[in-house]
Amino acid sequence: MAMKERLAKIREEVLEQIKTSESLERLNEVRIGALGKKGALTEILKGMKDVAAEDRPKVGQMVNEVRTELERALETEKEKLEDLARDAKLKSEVIDVTLPAVKNQVGHRHPNTIVQEEVERIFVGMGYEVVEGPEVEKDYYNFEALNTPKGHPARDEQDTFYINEDVVLRTQTSPVQVRTMEKGKLPIRMIAPGRVYRADEVDATHSPVFHQIEGLVIDKNITFADLKGTLAEFARELFGEETKVKFRPHHFPFTEPSAEVDVSCFKCGGKGCRFCKGSGWIEILGCGMVHPKVLTMSGIDPEEYSGFAFGVGLERITLLKYEIDDMRLLYENDVRFLKQF
Ligand code: DAH
Repeated sequence: MAMKERLAKIREEVLEQIKTSESLERLNEVRIGALGKKGALTEILKGMKDVAAEDRPKVGQMVNEVRTELERALETEKEKLEDLARDAKLKSEVIDVTLPAVKNQVGHRHPNTIVQEEVERIFVGMGYEVVEGPEVEKDYYNFEALNTPKGHPARDEQDTFYINEDVVLRTQTSPVQVRTMEKGKLPIRMIAPGRVYRADEVDATHSPVFHQIEGLVIDKNITFADLKGTLAEFARELFGEETKVKFRPHHFPFTEPSAEVDVSCFKCGGKGCRFCKGSGWIEILGCGMVHPKVLTMSGIDPEEYSGFAFGVGLERITLLKYEIDDMRLLYENDVRFLKQF
């Protein structure tokens, strides 16, 4: 009977395909090819109408037997392939707990940041507010309002990056003084840390970008004695209890009188060493009493109010505090360097 032979052939072929399928995808294809809507076995069932009526039950039974057998074979093969896939996955996920761990490189706070935060902590402790100002600044705030008009010789000392005639990269944090005074909220006790820019060549003590911390106090009856006391306390907190300060007369356009401040060398205690170049003193900042003209330009009456200001070079202090002899180390950000602080 042709039907019987066709059935036997299909059975054999499909069993062979199952055995050699090797993957679950392929096995599924085999299943569809045999038992699917258009599968070989389904086609046979469709041909039942051509089978003589008396043979139909027998042929039907044979088809069902083959179907059941193939289904079983498919199921068995499926389980086998699934087992293999699971084993392979497990193998690929094996972790060798004896291998050395991969170390994550963690960065480190920059010494500048450490010192800036220390300075902020000291002044916040004295009731100061920490404020910020723009790095791209109007010529007016950077110079004019600080009593440094166009053509003033003090402009030469600060080689300025000009954006255009009226806009500069600030050469100092002092413009933040003016911006704070202009707001008109008195009294003022503020420090303003931030980046400043000067057209300098890079060397061990210069960089075109560096940092300053500005300080400003405006109130009634502020005197030079307040300035001295404040900076002496600042120096003691930053460099140690034994530190002495010395005020040397100096000139800044925006303060009158002006001074530069030296601290006693914290390396030799003032006796003189290589660190302080034998003098026993190290210069750390500029300061003075805010010039009446500067107060007036910012809308503050110099008859009623007075104040002092100071400007510290952050890198300078960082280099001193950590005895680093080349400023360039601060900008290379080599973690092996930074980790020492
Ligand atoms: N701005 C000055 C500079 O960059 C530093 C300075 C000196 C700031 C005296 C001040 C000050 O506030 O009173 O050289």
